Amino acid sequence: MYEQVSHSLLNQILDEIKPEIRKRDLRHFYTRLGANFYVIHLLFHHLYGKRDDFKKQMIRLVEVMATRYVQRHVSLKQLDSEREKDHNWFLSQEWVGMALYADGFAENLQGVESRLSYLQELGVNILHVMPIMICPEGASDGGYAVSDFRNVDPGVGTLDDVNTLATSARRRGMLLILDMVLNHLSDEHEWAQRSRAGERKYQDYFYIFDNRDIPDMFEETMPEIFPETSPGNFTWDEQMQKWVMTVFNDYQWDLNYNNPAVFIEMLDNTLFWANQGADILRLDAVAFLWKKIGTTCQNEREAHLILQLMKDCCQVTAPGVLFIAEAIVAPVEITKYFGEDAVIAKECEIAYNATYMALLWDAMATKNTQLLWQGIQSLPTKLDRATWLNYLRCHDDIGLGFDDADIVRAGYQPPAHRQFLVDYFTGRYSDSSARGRPFGVNRKTGDARISGSLSSLVGLEDAIQRNDDAEINRSVKKILLLHSMICSFGGIPLLYYGDEIGTLNDYSFMEDENKAGDNRWMHRPKMDWERAEQRHKRGTPEQHIFDGLKKMIAARKGIPAFADFNNRELIDVENPHLFVFWRTDPFMLLGSVLVVCNFDDSPQYMELSALGNRGIFEHGNLRDIYSGESPRLFKEQLVVPPFHFYWLTDQRPEVGAL
Ligand code: GLC
Repeated sequence: MYEQVSHSLLNQILDEIKPEIRKRDLRHFYTRLGANFYVIHLLFHHLYGKRDDFKKQMIRLVEVMATRYVQRHVSLKQLDSEREKDHNWFLSQEWVGMALYADGFAENLQGVESRLSYLQELGVNILHVMPIMICPEGASDGGYAVSDFRNVDPGVGTLDDVNTLATSARRRGMLLILDMVLNHLSDEHEWAQRSRAGERKYQDYFYIFDNRDIPDMFEETMPEIFPETSPGNFTWDEQMQKWVMTVFNDYQWDLNYNNPAVFIEMLDNTLFWANQGADILRLDAVAFLWKKIGTTCQNEREAHLILQLMKDCCQVTAPGVLFIAEAIVAPVEITKYFGEDAVIAKECEIAYNATYMALLWDAMATKNTQLLWQGIQSLPTKLDRATWLNYLRCHDDIGLGFDDADIVRAGYQPPAHRQFLVDYFTGRYSDSSARGRPFGVNRKTGDARISGSLSSLVGLEDAIQRNDDAEINRSVKKILLLHSMICSFGGIPLLYYGDEIGTLNDYSFMEDENKAGDNRWMHRPKMDWERAEQRHKRGTPEQHIFDGLKKMIAARKGIPAFADFNNRELIDVENPHLFVFWRTDPFMLLGSVLVVCNFDDSPQYMELSALGNRGIFEHGNLRDIYSGESPRLFKEQLVVPPFHFYWLTDQRPEVGAL
């Protein structure tokens, strides 16, 4: 019944679509639209069905999809078809990413292109270039306040540069990730400017109110994202004499997805960037897409419906393009951004694994893996055709977003434990050499997050200043240990630029008035290429880290058990300093791999009997795939040196011969 409604609507739409689009070759488009239209209609109707102009908006939606399809370059269309045939392509262990700011890494996009060989040297084959669209010259939240969604910021280049970079990357077998900021835009954007000038049409693109009545109701339940620099969730606009919802900074206006025109415009922008050659789009702040009084205005059901609709539409026009959900929310909420099922209610194929990231930092501080163990055990299983983006550091702060119940199960008290972690990483704790800073401190709730570069957080900055070689070595070991965890867990490891050479905190942001209030800039460095040259000098920390990562990445690519087919099992080895998991080989090619990590600064052992009947030790000949060596065994115990990891496999002759 309902299918018939949707079929007849589709036929009407196709009759009414602009003739200049209709006469183009739309064969593949029609096949995909036919397959997805039922769900597209269902979702669009659910969100906007009560409006008088529903049908008009629906026609416009299809027109946008068709127009962008017509404009899509033939080479991208070919890639779409190839990826449709091999739809699990992104679950392979062969992918390794790096996130970077174009200007911080290499001055601009052309510079990034000229440095692709550096990334290849390391083994990186996915490049995430952080926001490049036009944004205000002053404070712009690191480019996340976009003032023009269709143009590149002149400071980093042009649209041609993006196309050249995408093509050049593709020629080298590399993928390109670009950001799509869906939730908000800069108050310098044309839509905000026209709202200010009094245009009703554009005021409807935002949440704008004459007085504080509704804002006050919203704020009763909305948390503050930047409590120090931008408290509250609304900003008074002098010119309009009205309140605007600004969940992030006061210059970032939240888009109102109750209005279908907003959805259609943002879909159009998304497809525009898909057509610039992006293989993957990072959808920023997706948890915030729907606002409802009486809620936190995060993770609302409609936010998921919007993402499902976005995915379904994108699959019609640019099916080869994947989405990453940037939803830094509670563990049970994050997995929902993959969708409920991979056929009907699919959302993003990839999601930031913020839970794992924060848990790894917990294990670093406590030298204990109880909470890491608990947190991963409690993480809901994700869809088969979805994967994690596993990372240690990024351009944002570290939020301690683990589940309170898990903290309790691990034997700690939630507020006290969180406070300990902030103290530890900001160096206030006596036994800590970390050099982070508190970020987003909320005096009302006591919440705080942490800024700082990976190397400074593990103690390298402190060790270098004190000229302490032993401590330098220990920090390097910690850096490699942490990376081994994101390379073996299952999912795509996403490195952060500069970490591969041990880049320390950059304090120069304090001299820039547009950055001084936001200490996330201390870990958004200008790449020091002279220091990068030290990677060729034996014995330097740069060389140890770079070569260690290079070896690790190469090893990962050769281990089919590290592909992500939900083929991981945690093993309880009854040693709270070790984190151990078992990765089975989904293709039965090279066999299973046992991952063992010691987060403590003293050697640890594990009883081999803990492995039960997993078979790996039966033949006695174990080999660590990373080092190529055999680990130390003492009687029936495996010995794990401080801050050390193993990727163990059974060295049966027939396996070696494969
Ligand atoms: C995302 C970005 C962050 C930004 C926020 C608002 O979380 O990663 O840097 O501040 O969105 O755009």
